[in-house]
Amino acid sequence: MSTSLIKSIFYYFFLSLVSCFLSCNNRSIESDLSKNNRQDLYKASELANKMRDMALDMEELKLKVNTGSITIKDIDKLISSHSTMSSDEPTDIKEIQPSFQLFSNIYIEQLEELKTIILKQGEISEQILLFNSALTTCVSCHREHCPGPISRIEKIKI
Ligand code: HEC
Repeated sequence: MSTSLIKSIFYYFFLSLVSCFLSCNNRSIESDLSKNNRQDLYKASELANKMRDMALDMEELKLKVNTGSITIKDIDKLISSHSTMSSDEPTDIKEIQPSFQLFSNIYIEQLEELKTIILKQGEISEQILLFNSALTTCVSCHREHCPGPISRIEKIKI
């Protein structure tokens, strides 16, 4: 196991311990209401739009990981698109916890590491491990911010 993977796992457990479940409790209910009843008033934030793209990208990537057909181009595209997450405007900046930056760095590091494995033409099992670890980081960040999408994210894992 590589050191950065071990580091990620360490951060994951550490941050789980200090995690705060207070924020964003009603977000999914709220946004359902927004979609159904207040569609004209609801506008998704820059970050929410990015997250929607990230979910679609990872669902697409899953098919490629499964067949061992990810290319460097695929992963480069993901890294450059997803790495703006830390500067994208959220719905409510007050809900963003100090851990956000850390989780977002770990997530991008894991994609970089997946790229390294693909470059080295590593085993598909190694690629799957990293793909799932990146999704675990999505879930960890969501535990602290916005639990609504967690079950969808878990379903993307292989
Ligand atoms: C660093 C923290 C962090 C990481 C990592 C992260 N998210 Fe998010 N996610 C958020 C926050 C915060 C929001 C709320 C955004 C807002 O309302 O502006 C969000 C919102 C979402 C939403 C709901 C968007 C909407 O329609 O309102 C989805 C779906 C989502 N994330 C999926 C993912 C997926 C899939 C991953 C990993 C591939 C991921 N997230 C990684 C913090 C994170």
